[in-house]
Amino acid sequence: MERAAETGYNLPLCSAHIHNSHPTPQHCSMRVIILDHPQQVSQLAADIICSTVATKPNAVLGLATGSTPLETYRLLVERYEQGLVSFAQVTTFNLDEYVGLGPDDSQSYHQFMHSHLFSRADFCVDRCHIPAGLAPDLKAEGERYERAIEAAGGIDLQLLGLGSDGHIAFNEPGSSLASRTRVKALSAQTLQDNARFFGSEEQVPRLALTMGVGSILAARRAVLLAIGSHKAAAVRDLVEGPLTARVPASALQLHPQAMILLDQAAASQLENTEYYHRAEQAQRTRSPA
Ligand code: GLP
Repeated sequence: MERAAETGYNLPLCSAHIHNSHPTPQHCSMRVIILDHPQQVSQLAADIICSTVATKPNAVLGLATGSTPLETYRLLVERYEQGLVSFAQVTTFNLDEYVGLGPDDSQSYHQFMHSHLFSRADFCVDRCHIPAGLAPDLKAEGERYERAIEAAGGIDLQLLGLGSDGHIAFNEPGSSLASRTRVKALSAQTLQDNARFFGSEEQVPRLALTMGVGSILAARRAVLLAIGSHKAAAVRDLVEGPLTARVPASALQLHPQAMILLDQAAASQLENTEYYHRAEQAQRTRSPA
């Protein structure tokens, strides 16, 4: 059991967790980790990614966009610059891309990943995959993307943010919980939330090519980050609400190895916080570093 550098949390990162595609039922868990400060959420996420790559240098990472993982990416770059981690053998698959935006468009997720992460560390760009938002046949592009994930051996660790409407990637409320990479229309809430990146709501693309909920559930481990009170209702529904397509993130309740990393504000509408703290404490007592 490895211990997170900054936060002291035990990370279930023995090689069995990373290499086993099917954890046995007794190893299945959804851990809810509530941290005092947003910075600790980013630090723990960076610790988990670095530990994964240290254990398996050619790990397949699923990556997310949005403002939430930005600090995590900055920390990864910092650790790379300090010689603490190398991504040279890593393969990555991003969750999604806007339909109609090419890789050179400043608002595309291609540009986001390039400018915040890929160009700042030793990633091999040939192994950094993002759905092609300009593909002439979007259905075929979705199928190609799924085959590429499979050919890479599947995703070892999937990083996720959370939409305020409960979406993961661009799987909006009502998405099939078995879905694979395909086109989705953005919800009114997401158009409103993402307008800040485009100047106005009218300029936000209406469609995205996104990994499905089923694609995300197939990752061997999933780590979802949520920071801030504007995510609190979605976090409550994800963790304590019923499993429902109305809250696509609630599908993580079915995931065999999911970690939900929250700051106090994002956790503020949870009912069972005392239990989550106790469960983590018990885990730390059982497996001291
Ligand atoms: C977008 C992305 C999601 C992300 C969400 C939250 O809609 N497709 O993957 O989780 O935004 O973004 P933020 O982290 O900026 O709140």
